[in-house]
Amino acid sequence: MSEDIAYEVMMDHYRNPHNYGTIENATNRITEYNPICGDTVHLEMIINEGRIEDIKFVGRGCSISQASASILTETVKGKSISSLNDLTDQKYLMDLGVSLGPARERCALLSLNALRKAIAGDGTAP
Ligand code: FES
Repeated sequence: MSEDIAYEVMMDHYRNPHNYGTIENATNRITEYNPICGDTVHLEMIINEGRIEDIKFVGRGCSISQASASILTETVKGKSISSLNDLTDQKYLMDLGVSLGPARERCALLSLNALRKAIAGDGTAP
């Protein structure tokens, strides 16, 4: 995928976010924020038998952070928790397919960091 197309995909996720909303019977919830700008991503998910059965997000912030949250939910929905060990920061950023500077990388990784904390049990229990 060319970088131009990858950027268009990101902007489409920003304008039309996938898996946007909340899950009433979520097993794991977390709100993560970027302390530099205050932007937030809130994730809710159902984890059952080591698998992310469902995941949704709401948030407020820059296009990169919100598009990335939408893409992340699409990426991990239905996946086993153990398979996420391979999803390193660098792999996730490469999969996004757009070149980002260090500050924008933090925007893009906000939701992935939130997901890791929620899976580790750092989030608020329902
Ligand atoms: Fe705040 Fe991107 S500028 S997360």
